[in-house]
Amino acid sequence: MAAKTENANSWVYRGEGNRCLAVGNSFSNEVYLLTKLRDKVSSHEVCADVKRSVQNEVDFGRCVLRPLIGEKYVPVGKVVCVSKDFLSQIEEKMRKHRSSRRLLEKLDPAGFAVCLPDACSLPKVVGSYGHGPVVCVEVKPKTGFLPRSSTIPVAHHKIRQSVCRYCMQQCLKLHQGKIQERSQYCPLDLFSGTACRMDLAIKALVRNPQNNFKVFRDGHVIYSGDTENHQQPLQDCLTALFTGNDKDSKYALPGDLGTQKIDGLVDRFSELLRQMLVHPLDESESCYGNTTPSTTPECCTESRAKLQQGDSQLGLVPGSVLYNILHAQQLDVLDIEGIYPLYQRLVAHLDAHPEDWDTWCLKGPYDNTQWTVNHNVVKKCIENIDSIESVVALVKAFLVSLTAKDGSVMVAMQRVENGADVTLPVVTDTVGNKYMFNIQVVDTKPKPLHRIQKYFSLNKDIVQAYIQTVGYSSDGTIVKQEASEESVK
Ligand SMILES: Nc1ncnc2c1ncn2[C@@H]1O[C@H](COP(=O)(O)OP(=O)(O)O)[C@@H](O)[C@H]1O
Ligand SMILES: [Mg+2]
Ligand SMILES: [Zn+2]
Repeated sequence: MAAKTENANSWVYRGEGNRCLAVGNSFSNEVYLLTKLRDKVSSHEVCADVKRSVQNEVDFGRCVLRPLIGEKYVPVGKVVCVSKDFLSQIEEKMRKHRSSRRLLEKLDPAGFAVCLPDACSLPKVVGSYGHGPVVCVEVKPKTGFLPRSSTIPVAHHKIRQSVCRYCMQQCLKLHQGKIQERSQYCPLDLFSGTACRMDLAIKALVRNPQNNFKVFRDGHVIYSGDTENHQQPLQDCLTALFTGNDKDSKYALPGDLGTQKIDGLVDRFSELLRQMLVHPLDESESCYGNTTPSTTPECCTESRAKLQQGDSQLGLVPGSVLYNILHAQQLDVLDIEGIYPLYQRLVAHLDAHPEDWDTWCLKGPYDNTQWTVNHNVVKKCIENIDSIESVVALVKAFLVSLTAKDGSVMVAMQRVENGADVTLPVVTDTVGNKYMFNIQVVDTKPKPLHRIQKYFSLNKDIVQAYIQTVGYSSDGTIVKQEASEESVK
């Protein structure tokens, strides 16, 4: 199928990761994910192989992630063809939005893209009710639970079960100079389902977005870890969102008043976003089998939030986007330490029997029962871990959990008049204004088998960097607490 509109002028930059450059079309409300050349080898890949791998990505989202996270949240993509001319026009047009590092990454000339509904916009039918800009927030929440596995080496038990991976990784990134300042965001707070902890998490993301938080205004990125001096656009954007009025400049206040104002706006915004993230939109429980995720709120010792006795710790609301994502993440039952030996067993088996790559569809296709992954399957396989089939299923469940740990939640919202009969879900803010919203989970691509090797090595580095930063004795107690406080500042 050829692209409907091949005029590069209708497309705007949305974002990019290692695999794709995303561009949005404001007329059709569609996004094209344009595949980048992976490495020198893939430039020799024949067209049919590229098409197959793009189709596999679409199928993985549709057949594996969608049943787990919910059809209301995970859109179904389709593969489209784009011309070489379109790709070079896009590369030219998007040049100014891309970092120098990203500019080295070229689009794959094979000419296949994934077409998805634009998560930055609201479905057109309801457009007439909305006032002011459509504001979309992208949150990359990362891993929202602590490992409980008995497979973790004894020396690391205490540390792994009290500090989450994201917080530990901040130490490594600081050490490597990849970030200048530690983020105060802790995924366990966002996934706690407790209002005050979720608010803390959202405000920490706003303060230091890194790669985990972005704001789009009518489809244009106006706030992210990459943009500088971005307070004013955010202030204007939130003001316009709350007032339902696009002409925001007269509300902007200079100097100190401006700073006070941004804090107030962010407080109000985080409350709004939190309500959307816990709103149960997809309660189709079929995929859960008879297990539900543990939603007992856990707290990470690196977080400023503390579990308080007597708090109503209800955890996440079933059917909310965060609940469903957490459930998919928790398909990682054995932790990387428990999965790694199984991965090694599988790799040894595949070396001896390369034909089993296909037997078990390890590189796809994904639209078949080989990829039925859920908590019931995991439970049964753990009881029967000697069989290679169980190993395969557990490794697959771990790969699915990696996708769920790496995905983004995009929440598009717009002010609506009180009393309007809107078909989308609506939440009310502290002053009684109403906002309709739509949530999509994006980046639902499969992770390759060898990612487990990389994840294992990175995990070692992360734990090591953390141990060195905080100081840590062999009995598992942290001995240099002040150093850790210092590194937080
Ligand atoms: N359906 C969509 N609507 C709007 N923006 C999207 C959509 N899908 C992806 N994006 C944007 O593009 C970015 C890169 O897409 P992603 O699928 O994460 O690519 P990668 O696999 O390279 O990480 C996302 O972080 C998001 O900002
Ligand atoms: Mg991504
Ligand atoms: Zn944490």
